[in-house]
Amino acid sequence: MNSTNAARRISRRDFIRSSAALGAVAWGMPTIVPSSVLGQNAPSKRINLAIIGCGNQSTVDIPEWLKNDDCQIVTVCDVNRASHGYRSDDQFLGREPQRDFINQFYARKTGKDSFKSCDACTDFRAVLARKDVDAVAIITPDHWHAVMTIMAAEAGKDIYCQKPLGLTVRDGQEMIKAVRKHQRILQCGSQWRSTPHVRQACELVLNGRLGKLQRVESLVATNNFAGPGPGWKEMPVPEGFDYDTWLGPAPKAPYHKDRCFYKFLFIRDYSGGQTTNFGHHSNGVVRWGVGDDLFPTEFEDQGSEWPEKGDLFTTPTKVAFRALFPNGFELVCKTDKRGFGVRFIGSEGTIDVSSKKIESTPVSIKSAVIGGNDKRLYVSPNHYRNFLDCVKSRQDGVEPVETGHRTSMLCHLGNIAMLLKRKIKFDPQQEQIIDDAEAAAMLARPMRAPWSYGAQT
Ligand SMILES: NC(=O)c1ccc[n+]([C@@H]2O[C@H](COP(=O)([O-])OP(=O)(O)OC[C@H]3O[C@@H](n4cnc5c(N)ncnc54)[C@H](O)[C@@H]3O)[C@@H](O)[C@H]2O)c1
Repeated sequence: MNSTNAARRISRRDFIRSSAALGAVAWGMPTIVPSSVLGQNAPSKRINLAIIGCGNQSTVDIPEWLKNDDCQIVTVCDVNRASHGYRSDDQFLGREPQRDFINQFYARKTGKDSFKSCDACTDFRAVLARKDVDAVAIITPDHWHAVMTIMAAEAGKDIYCQKPLGLTVRDGQEMIKAVRKHQRILQCGSQWRSTPHVRQACELVLNGRLGKLQRVESLVATNNFAGPGPGWKEMPVPEGFDYDTWLGPAPKAPYHKDRCFYKFLFIRDYSGGQTTNFGHHSNGVVRWGVGDDLFPTEFEDQGSEWPEKGDLFTTPTKVAFRALFPNGFELVCKTDKRGFGVRFIGSEGTIDVSSKKIESTPVSIKSAVIGGNDKRLYVSPNHYRNFLDCVKSRQDGVEPVETGHRTSMLCHLGNIAMLLKRKIKFDPQQEQIIDDAEAAAMLARPMRAPWSYGAQT
């Protein structure tokens, strides 16, 4: 058996553990919550969801899934049993706390003293092997997004994958292949396309209310943590944490507390930093406003800053790049203390989109009427609800795999230009960097065995 198959095969020990967990559930409370208790939806219409990754963002996503009566979280998976050490001091997270949180929610909802419908496991392959799981929510660090998505698609699961869609451009391309080959629904988890005022702003731009578009500014937040600096030392791996599986397809590396939970975001082996973190949100809004069919053909550094050599952290401390769209307007993506935000600048005025509102100059632009023959954008008032509806209808949602990939790709190309500190020319049709072999090689990265894109490569 080759290494790929070895990774895809679930070990006998994991299988027994997962079967034992299922057996325990059957002994305790019913595995499926009766529809009469959870809502009006017949069990056949209810979507059984598995959560993969029980860290910081799961505290946002899990409560959102729980709002939907036709969705039941049947299992959670994390390589961390339970610990502090996430984004904030008060976060105690991992598979057991999140399992308990979900069961307590269902107990309250059903008026019972306790509920054991949701179980917890360590190995996501055990989740994918379960026949009762219809869909997975992938909330792991970015270096896992592609492998998990591809294996979930092969296992016939629909997928809500947190942004960005992969660590590299190649990751995204392989995710598209798998999702389309296996006819799965994938929603990329960048919720701004399900935010009504963002849609309104983008429709105004798309329909020319700003006149001729000249420049777009896309803001990303400052880094909220600093690295340990050069000279950092290896630390013992905490008990209850499967560090090797956390690393997964990423290179083998000595453990340090600032490497994993939440702060992986600042290390290039696992993330593109704020360029792909906030950048996926703000650049996704830019693309919606200017038209998803347009894509920049040039990328250039504009004074990005990076951590000191030898630091554990390796993503930009200051994001600053420029991308040129073929019809002449430029995008400037930069770190700004305001965090997420987009400014569209045209010959007739400007529109600013923040997390809460739209502002325009002149003020009248923001209330201009969109209608008649104007282009309209996909209406999704809630990103999670939209995914569940699409699982039932088998139609693409507001942010399908191709859309998520193209936004992630824009961010990855910005990172490549900032790293190399030179202009990158890009062919958006072929998704290839032109006349620069060193830059082109950065569109993909090797994966540590036994992980790979699988049979499709
Ligand atoms: N949409 C948004 O607004 C938003 C906001 C924050 C984060 N995110 C995204 O969510 C993802 C997770 O970010 P986070 O802040 O929650 O990180 P985190 O480190 O707090 O949590 C990630 C969890 O995944 C677990 N994990 C790692 N490898 C695993 C594996 N092989 N199997 C099972 N679990 C594994 C970790 O142990 C950890 O508990 C990132 O991709 C990030 O970009 C999205």
